[in-house]
Amino acid sequence: MPHKYAVIGNPVDHSLSPAIHAEFARATGHDIAYGRVLAPLDGFRAAVLKFRDEGGSGLNVTLPFKHEAWHLSSTRSGFALAAGAVNTLAFKGGEIVGHNTDGIGLVRDLTRNLRVPVRGKRVLLMGAGGASYGVMEPTLREQPQSLVVANRTLEKAIALVGHFEKLQQYALEGIAARPYDALAGTQFDIVINATSAGLEDAMPPVPDSVFAPGALAYDMVYVKRTPFIQFAQEHGARASDGLGMLVEQAAESFFIWRGVYPETRAAIAMLRRQMQK
Ligand code: ATR
Repeated sequence: MPHKYAVIGNPVDHSLSPAIHAEFARATGHDIAYGRVLAPLDGFRAAVLKFRDEGGSGLNVTLPFKHEAWHLSSTRSGFALAAGAVNTLAFKGGEIVGHNTDGIGLVRDLTRNLRVPVRGKRVLLMGAGGASYGVMEPTLREQPQSLVVANRTLEKAIALVGHFEKLQQYALEGIAARPYDALAGTQFDIVINATSAGLEDAMPPVPDSVFAPGALAYDMVYVKRTPFIQFAQEHGARASDGLGMLVEQAAESFFIWRGVYPETRAAIAMLRRQMQK
């Protein structure tokens, strides 16, 4: 009998996780069945418990349930604790162990796939929603030179920086919250778009002067070429979408469940081919 896993969300039909985990299972020779669970907006907890009670071993959690998954977890592991969001659940005996692998996914994509070390870099993180909370701790632990969080609603950036204040010693020059218009004249080596603007063909109002020579612009959105990616390239930056992050966070989930770290290159290449079709 294969071990059962799934991605749970609402909506969930467009999730690429089943294809990614099928590729990992093939590559590692693990016998798993990975499906999709559409949970009603008011029925996340019941859907998780049903999946577990029917023999499920673990779940990936996607929008809009990552925060609820954090509350449902009986134990929170590693980066999930501070992130306040959980994207991976592992059922262990009576425990529901919650993990957050999103930030590790981002850092691995930056450092291993794109070969851009975060250590010593000036990092700009745009957005102060759940996606930003998920990546703050792993990014800070890479020891950037500085980490600036910019957000349209400044209070949310200030709250986010306050939430991670205890970790600010990891960045040489600490962390700070700024409105977009205060960024003119400051350059960054890595500019990460963690806003949802790209999904609506919009982009945050970031000045074009933020890109240091050789800067990397990273958009967590992977379903389309976003206005931010285009803008960054037009202003001389190297740009990447978030497909690698998606695959790397999945690889970390696979490792948590299966104890084996899958090779990610084949899965990234497969998804690139699929998306070009
Ligand atoms: P998620 O959990 O995916 O991060 P969220 O919590 O709704 O989603 O947060 C979305 C983020 O994208 C917020 O930081 C939001 O900025 P505000 O806090 O000012 O709303 C940001 N965002 C969305 N659309 C944007 C746009 N067109 N320009 C700038 N920021 C945008």
